[in-house]
This record gives sequence, C-alpha cells and structure tokens, in this order.
Amino acid sequence: MITVTDLRKVYRQGKKEVVALDGVTLSVPKGSIHGIIGHSGAGKSTLVRCLTLLDRPTSGSVSIDGTELSSVRDSEIRTARRRIGMVFQHANLMDSRTAAGNVAHPLELVKTPKDQTQAKVAGLLKLVGLEGFENAYPSQLSGGQRQRVGIARALASDPDVLLCDEPTSALDPATTNEILDLIQDLTTRLQLTVLIITHEMNVVKRVCDSVSLLFKGRIIEHGALQDVAGNLESKLARALLPLPPSEPLQGTLEDGPVLEILFAGDSAKEPVITGVARHFDIDLNVLAGSVETLGGQQFGHLRVQLAGNADSGAVLDYLHDRGISAKFAASEAAIESETQLQHQATGEKK
Ligand SMILES: Nc1ncnc2c1ncn2[C@@H]1O[C@H](COP(=O)(O)OP(=O)(O)OP(=O)(O)O)[C@@H](O)[C@H]1O
Ligand SMILES: [Mg+2]
Repeated sequence: MITVTDLRKVYRQGKKEVVALDGVTLSVPKGSIHGIIGHSGAGKSTLVRCLTLLDRPTSGSVSIDGTELSSVRDSEIRTARRRIGMVFQHANLMDSRTAAGNVAHPLELVKTPKDQTQAKVAGLLKLVGLEGFENAYPSQLSGGQRQRVGIARALASDPDVLLCDEPTSALDPATTNEILDLIQDLTTRLQLTVLIITHEMNVVKRVCDSVSLLFKGRIIEHGALQDVAGNLESKLARALLPLPPSEPLQGTLEDGPVLEILFAGDSAKEPVITGVARHFDIDLNVLAGSVETLGGQQFGHLRVQLAGNADSGAVLDYLHDRGISAKFAASEAAIESETQLQHQATGEKK
C-alpha cells in the first residue's frame, strides 16, 4: 500500500517560487494499479522524484506499507529506495551488458552472492517471458523485450511498489498491450502496488483500477475507474469515453435538441433509447457513440438528437430518474474547445 498525504514541492528559481505539487493526496492499495494522467507541467515527474526520494518534498508525507519515506535519513535512502522498482519509458539498459547482466546489476550493487544472483536473474527473466534471452545484448532485443528486461531489473530487489513512468510511450500498440498485460499479471502474482504515470488514456483503460487527473500540481479528479467513468461532468469520463465530433443530421430532425447520454453498468444493457422513443413518442437519431468495458463494467457514451418538438427537459428528467447521466450537448464550438481540453488533460497530441 502506498499513501501520499498532502505532498507539496516548491522549487525556487531565484526570487520566484514554482509550486510543482500543491497538496497531493492519494492512496493505492496492494495488488492494484493506479494511473496518474496529466498534461505537460502538471507535476508528474516531480511526483516520481518525490516518491523515489530523488527529491525531498517541501512538506507532506509518502509512506509504503506504513513506513514513512520522507523521514528516512540520507544514509538509509538507498535501502528505502529498494522498496520501489522503477520502470522507465526507454528501458535505460546498459548496452555493454547482456539481459542477464542488466537484471543482475541491482543485486551486484548490494553484494548478493553470485550463485544467488544467477538463480534470481534466471527466475526473473522467466517471469517476464524472456527465457532463452539471458545472453542477448540490448541491441539484439526488440523494444518490448528491452522493456521486459527493464521490468525484470525493477523486480530484482523484491520491491513492494512498482513505479512506471510512461512505460509504454515508446512502444507500438500491440507491444504496449503485451507489456501492460505483463504488468497486470505481475501485480496480481506478486501483490505489487503499482503507479503508472502516463499521458495515454488507453493505458488507463486497459490496466488501471483507479486513476487520478493531475492538473497544476493538484489532483482535480480521482477514483475507481468505474466510478469516474459514469459521470458526464467528469473530465476523465469524457477522456475515457470520447465521442467523435458530429454534425446534427439534416432533414426532419434538423432543429431538434442534442443530448449527451452516458450509460453505466446495468443501464448500458437497458434499451434506453427505445424506452425514450416509446415513452415520449418521438424519434431519436444517434449522432455519435462509443462503448467501452472499463474495470469490468460496460459504459456507453452517446450523442443523440431528438425530434424538433420533443420536451428535452422531460427527457433529461426521465433519464436522470433512471440513474443515467445526461445533459444538453455543448455547441460544436464548445465541443471543439472541450476536445482541446481533453487533449490538454491527457497530454495527447491532436
Ligand atoms: N528543478 C526545478 N526547478 C524549478 N522548477 C521546476 C523544477 N522541476 C520542475 N519544475 C517546474 O515544476 C512544474 C512541474 O514540472 P514536472 O516536470 O513535474 O511536470 P510533468 O508533469 O512531468 O511535465 P512533462 O509531461 O512535460 O514531463 C513545472 O512548472 C516545472 O517548470
Ligand atoms: Mg515529466
């Protein structure tokens, strides 16, 4: 379990103060994966540095399974750091060492006996699916294989926490999924506590149990994936279930109001659209939609247009009474600016 409480980090640049972390509080239970998403400058790297003790927080605390890291004396930092395994965007392997040599490195640093090291390294490479690649050099491995070596090296000191900083940003989509599946499998098998810093919403969708949105040094939204995804007001929900831009249909429905509807869990299975059409005796047209399974639960996000004379307020009440998040869709201009906000929030390039 990792617990961060009211963490602040203020950098001084001459007379100017830069507040990089402004009271970050989060907790990640053992055996689960927490995603931290935020645009450039949000404070992600600062958070990583504070968690790995590369930087001392200005105030606040970080603890792992109840051990307070921020009060660790300088002489004990190295030992404390061994409780956290780091996985980087580029595996950061030593080119002059084989896969086995790279994984062995942290064990050599603490003078582990050679036979123990050898057995441990073989076990770790097998664990990450690299049996038979012990003697391969980084230049002989694919990006995904190199990241597997990086993960094996991170696990060499039997850490409680795995801190992954953009672990898949340099990989293609198929390899990304393989590495994420490996991280998920290891989390369960080794009962790790995992933090993934990422700008990719797909990473959050695929493996995270919970997620935080970091914005200007503060966590402005957080929660279990299925909780944040069910609310149209949530920026994370809109980034998790994005809708493509759409033009209202020309013709019979031209002047009808446009609604956005977010179905969660059981309500996703109910024929809500048919229900509305029957109950109000109106036509609806689906302009855009996306369906995802997040945290084992199904979600649907729809943009629909109602027939011109429909009482859209009554339709909204009908949906809200059924526990469905729904609201008037923003104008095209607002959708456009919101999309930019989404891209900002997730750091994705347009
Ligand atoms: N050593 C430093 N001295 C002064 N200011 C700093 C220092 N490190 C970071 N900052 C500032 O703190 C804020 C957060 O920076 P940080 O590097 O944590 O952002 P980030 O979320 O990692 O961004 P990116 O996605 O671009 O890597 C920024 O305003 C940055 O300029
Ligand atoms: Mg950074």
